Amino acid sequence: MAKKLFIKTYGCQMNVYDSARMADVLAPLGYRLTDRPEAADMVILNTCHIREKASEKLFSELGRLRPVKAERGGQILAVAGCVAQAEGEEIFRRAPHVDLVFGPQTYHRLPEMVARATRAEGAVLDTDFPVESKFDHLPEAASAPGVSAFLSIQEGCDKFCTFCVVPYTRGAEFSRPVAAIVEEARHLVANGAREITLLGQNVNAYRGPGPKGEAAGLADLIRALAAIEGLLRIRYTTSHPRDMDADLLRLHGEEAKLMPFLHLPVQSGSDSVLERMNRGHGADAYRELVATLRRHRPDIALSSDFIVGFPGETDEDFEATLALVEEMGFAQAFSFKYSPRPGTPAALMPDAVPEAVKAERLHRLQTLLGQSQRAWNAKMLGRTLPVLFEQAGRHRNQLIGRSPYWQAVHVEAPEAAIGDLGQIRILAQHRNSLAGEWIGPIGTSPSATSERACA
Ligand code: 5AD
Ligand code: SF4
Repeated sequence: MAKKLFIKTYGCQMNVYDSARMADVLAPLGYRLTDRPEAADMVILNTCHIREKASEKLFSELGRLRPVKAERGGQILAVAGCVAQAEGEEIFRRAPHVDLVFGPQTYHRLPEMVARATRAEGAVLDTDFPVESKFDHLPEAASAPGVSAFLSIQEGCDKFCTFCVVPYTRGAEFSRPVAAIVEEARHLVANGAREITLLGQNVNAYRGPGPKGEAAGLADLIRALAAIEGLLRIRYTTSHPRDMDADLLRLHGEEAKLMPFLHLPVQSGSDSVLERMNRGHGADAYRELVATLRRHRPDIALSSDFIVGFPGETDEDFEATLALVEEMGFAQAFSFKYSPRPGTPAALMPDAVPEAVKAERLHRLQTLLGQSQRAWNAKMLGRTLPVLFEQAGRHRNQLIGRSPYWQAVHVEAPEAAIGDLGQIRILAQHRNSLAGEWIGPIGTSPSATSERACA
């Protein structure tokens, strides 16, 4: 009888990708996914360590799972991801009912870990940064990818922003070879994917071996992927401003399959804060980068991340962030209160900003970002956009898709259109989505995907 696997994923899209690959690794052992931990033979919590209280949240979840495990004899309980990497042994000490703890780079060894746990050899810890790449050991994806799929191409980070744990939990920058990525992309497309989002902590720092052993950049990789027939859209995330090279900027004006959306975190609009964050650029360099990008692709939708209340952030620094937001016209953005992460340089910096000031700044910033997003969405009203349909909506005959600019769009359309591009006239904007009416199909042949023609 098939065994049941429950995976709970926290945090970023890389974790979503990793969770799917963990399921692939465990499929040959007979594990099939369930959405109920009580019914599971194995439970994996794939954790995120990027912001505060990650460990506290994990231990309370583990507390909730203790009776579930006791009830379901023989259940294997595993903690994966970045909290596992950071806390290691500590997890067994505080939650002795946990069987496995493994980091983001070792889950290809899950079959062996599961075998050891099943033989009741005691707790299994695997938080190495192994010399072999997990990607060389992962099986082909077993599950259907969906219309929009993730593909991890790069991992780790060498930037060492002073607030961030990623370089410690995910390790050094590593890029997969072009050929392996193209092969995985072909497999995804053959199984129904029409859009692929390339993932990496520092995706535009991608520098992988190309077909002739030469170093290929992200632009080279995207060009190789764009040649795949049936693949309609390519996106990538998350990028660092320092790694937006001229080739990639130009490609945004040249490659029709590369969608006009870029998530480019700036974190702050103040030069002195950016310097203490070790971001390696100032606010004007960001402005210039965006100006160049818009010269190549005038309609590009820009997204960002912000941190408020970084140590020493003055009112003036914060005003500089607001000024940058006013100027840039962000289509969307994520913003966070700074939270000190143990082991990072910023956690030791003086002049912590009081919680109340952080909260007030976050509120002001989010209000401004909300206005910016609404203004961006309002520009879509009355326009006809190509929408790629991904899934059925909540209402009858309703489909949900995405515009080229990453907006969710609700439309009344036949279910058979899932996986296709439709021309949609945008009629209304809601809080987190747009609503439109079906004008007609665009078709899925590559020649029909020059979407700017309709945008
Ligand atoms: N405190 C607050 N926000 C953080 N981020 C990363 N580390 C921290 C931290 N210590 C935010 C950054 C990053 C996003 C993924 O999370 O904005 O771009
Ligand atoms: Fe963290 Fe900075 Fe690396 Fe992004 S670039 S993962 S914020 S250290």
